Amino acid sequence: MQRPMRSMLTRVSARTSLHMPAAQGRAPLRSFSPYRLDATELPVTDDLYRPLGAIAQAERLAACSAGTQTTILVPGGSTAGLHAMLLYACKRGEQVVLPRNVHISCLHLCALAGFEPVFAEPSITPEGRLYTAPEAYARTLDTYPHASAALALHGDYYGLLSDLPAIARETHTRGRLLLCDEAHGAYFNWRSDVPNAGACGADLFVQSAHKTLPALTPGAWLHAMPGVNAQRLRSLLRMVQTSSPSFVIMLSLDEARCWMDRYGTVACARLLAATERFRMRAEALGFPDDQRNAPPGMAYDRLRLVLASPWGGVWLQKQLQARKLDVEMCDEGHVVCILSLLDGPARLCRLERALRAIARRAPPIPTGEPNHTPEAIFPEAWPPRRMSIGDAAFAQSEELPVYEAIGRVSAVNAGPYPPGIAWLTAGDEVTPTVAALLTNTSSERLFGMETPGMLRCVKRT
Ligand SMILES: Cc1ncc(COP(=O)(O)O)c(C=O)c1O
Repeated sequence: MQRPMRSMLTRVSARTSLHMPAAQGRAPLRSFSPYRLDATELPVTDDLYRPLGAIAQAERLAACSAGTQTTILVPGGSTAGLHAMLLYACKRGEQVVLPRNVHISCLHLCALAGFEPVFAEPSITPEGRLYTAPEAYARTLDTYPHASAALALHGDYYGLLSDLPAIARETHTRGRLLLCDEAHGAYFNWRSDVPNAGACGADLFVQSAHKTLPALTPGAWLHAMPGVNAQRLRSLLRMVQTSSPSFVIMLSLDEARCWMDRYGTVACARLLAATERFRMRAEALGFPDDQRNAPPGMAYDRLRLVLASPWGGVWLQKQLQARKLDVEMCDEGHVVCILSLLDGPARLCRLERALRAIARRAPPIPTGEPNHTPEAIFPEAWPPRRMSIGDAAFAQSEELPVYEAIGRVSAVNAGPYPPGIAWLTAGDEVTPTVAALLTNTSSERLFGMETPGMLRCVKRT
């Protein structure tokens, strides 16, 4: 009997996870069998799209924990939540202001729904992390007075948090809605050190519970603040999700919420303290914390662990992998770890033992190279828009060698993964700068290129 999925997952479950899903192999409350509790819409259960019973109650409790007017369980991940928010805020043909590091799912929805992304000009921290300042949102909203909403990111892979209150002020004074992608911040609802997006002024926001809480992949919440028509939002969510939403994922969302209500604030504070102590020990071993230099008004989520490696991020990831520890991601100079609220301090001990062994056997530190390599290179000038995203994504297209594509219109979104930032959005002109970036990055690190070295472009008529 061949059971490749079972074999793979059993093998992986014996390793140490420092990545999503944040449950990392443990149930928050009493474990359950998904086969026994899987269900569907029946007179004795409930209906996600017309909740009257347990789902309605689970949503009310989640809203209470998050401080929102309405919270909707989203078994389709933040991806589905982002789609529903954008559909709520925009009409076909309208513009929406996005940050350059917007999740790819928003670009997909814009192409499908006929919304046009306009990008607020990004800034870069000294470590090379991309962010969007409130003034950039203000300028873009003024330049595009017909843009119906702006979307901001609150917490990226490195834990960098936007100045959301200021972005909310700029958006609201111009009479637009603020949508927020807080996929990496579901635990903010229970944190005393970081307010969630609703408390910072967002009108609608999504959180991937599976990224930071003990919930099953891809359980998420879609939150709405006062003034949002929640019935309409739910109808739109129905358009982008399966008509058979997983009751097991919805159950895991409620289990995670329940555990967090009972233990979450203390668990976050305890893990935060353990992580700060760990950072000092890791630095002494040669792996300093690399969440420094947050721009004014911004901060870092200190429960996200970003370690710099003088030998490079890929090297450190491989060293840890060889010792059966798997991190969330690496870039040129760092590894990023996600910790479980259930047993994060124990995992930090395992990580420290591994780092100690790695440091003992590491080659001499390369000299003459910076200790902290920027994790991603961005185009000095972002490519100009030449066509709407939907027209480009669904036009007749052809694959061309990247250098031959210069001057043509891209039919795809393409860039490095991780962190998943599109250097090129469908509808952009392919510039020499972007072509050079795509050519100089190894094909396994790129998304959007179906054939290595080839870029799908709009066919000339
Ligand atoms: C910033 C951001 N937003 C949204 C998503 C999508 O989340 P989900 O996997 O819950 O659909 C991701 C996924 O990694 C993400 O990093």
